[in-house]
Amino acid sequence: MPVKANDHITKSPSQPQPPANFKKPSYAVNLALNENPFPPSPKAMDAYKNAGEKLNRYPEYTSHSLRQVLGDKYGIDNTRIMCTAGSEQMLAFLARAYIDVGDEVIYPKYGFMIYKFNIAMAGAVGVPVEHDDFRINVQYILDAVTDKTRLVFLDNPGNPTGTYVPYDEIKRLREELRDDILLVLDAAYAEFCTEDDYDAGLALVDEYDNVVVTRTLSKLYGLSGLRVGWTYGPAEIINTLLHLKGGFNVAIAAQAAGTAAVMDDEYASMVRDHSQNSIDWMSEELRMLGIKVTPSVCNFMLIHFPGGRDQMKACDEYLKENDIGVGPLGAYGLDASLRITVGTDEENKIFVDAMKTFMGK
Ligand SMILES: Cc1ncc(COP(=O)(O)O)c(C=O)c1O
Repeated sequence: MPVKANDHITKSPSQPQPPANFKKPSYAVNLALNENPFPPSPKAMDAYKNAGEKLNRYPEYTSHSLRQVLGDKYGIDNTRIMCTAGSEQMLAFLARAYIDVGDEVIYPKYGFMIYKFNIAMAGAVGVPVEHDDFRINVQYILDAVTDKTRLVFLDNPGNPTGTYVPYDEIKRLREELRDDILLVLDAAYAEFCTEDDYDAGLALVDEYDNVVVTRTLSKLYGLSGLRVGWTYGPAEIINTLLHLKGGFNVAIAAQAAGTAAVMDDEYASMVRDHSQNSIDWMSEELRMLGIKVTPSVCNFMLIHFPGGRDQMKACDEYLKENDIGVGPLGAYGLDASLRITVGTDEENKIFVDAMKTFMGK
């Protein structure tokens, strides 16, 4: 008898994995993955280098220093913070701990792709909800609730939309959702958003026993390559999730660099300002070329081609030929759109110039 894996793993769509010999494409100008175009904070890099001497040791079990710094920075209880290898690891833990075969899980149709895969891997049923012009309408989430709903994943701000849901609406969502439905607020891009009516929702975690907020150091803090994420949750939920952590999920260098990174407010402001200025400039340039741009509060933007799918495909090809990588969104059914990440000023200009040539202007 051959060994047999669980059906809901082998028979459900999982995150598409490239073949074993795949190599991540490297473009001269890479605007594809919502990464920070700058090296991390010099303080984070120093901490990273110093950590090198300690690599013969296992890391601190609970990322103690990082949790303390985060607790102080946000005025939250650091005993209810859990650090993970990227926030992606936590999204998988949440699915493993809180959804089961046959449960329903609601998520935005144009929400972070990983939700769908985690839901499928748990043997649960994903319930994607529509948007209004790429904005989440909380009412659609409430309308999608059934007796079987166990959890809601909501990226706010959203990827790939770049839009956000005002905090009042998030509060209404929590108030009107059944108490036994866990609300997961994925705030991977929170640090970029300076809108007055936006809030990542950390206070809601203190107020309710069924809200968690996931955050990451991959984006504004430029540590995608190190894999550091963190989650704030009610004590009981964090204690449950700790069962899944294993011994040492966040490497010594990741803890050290992460701790230094979140203390460097000057670096954070520099990246945020650069991102917002770049979004403003690039959006304006693209709109002048007849391309529709969804207003973004993140470090990337969703753009829509007037010539539909064929024009988007031709543009994606043209950019690749010019060594510029962007994010195609066919997997979301968005086949006339691309997601463009902010680069350095020089990279942004190379991209905009290429777009001008492509659009014949
Ligand atoms: C909305 C959203 N959430 C979570 C993540 C995961 O980030 P990481 O695992 O690097 O923390 C991403 C990454 O692109 C994202 O876009």
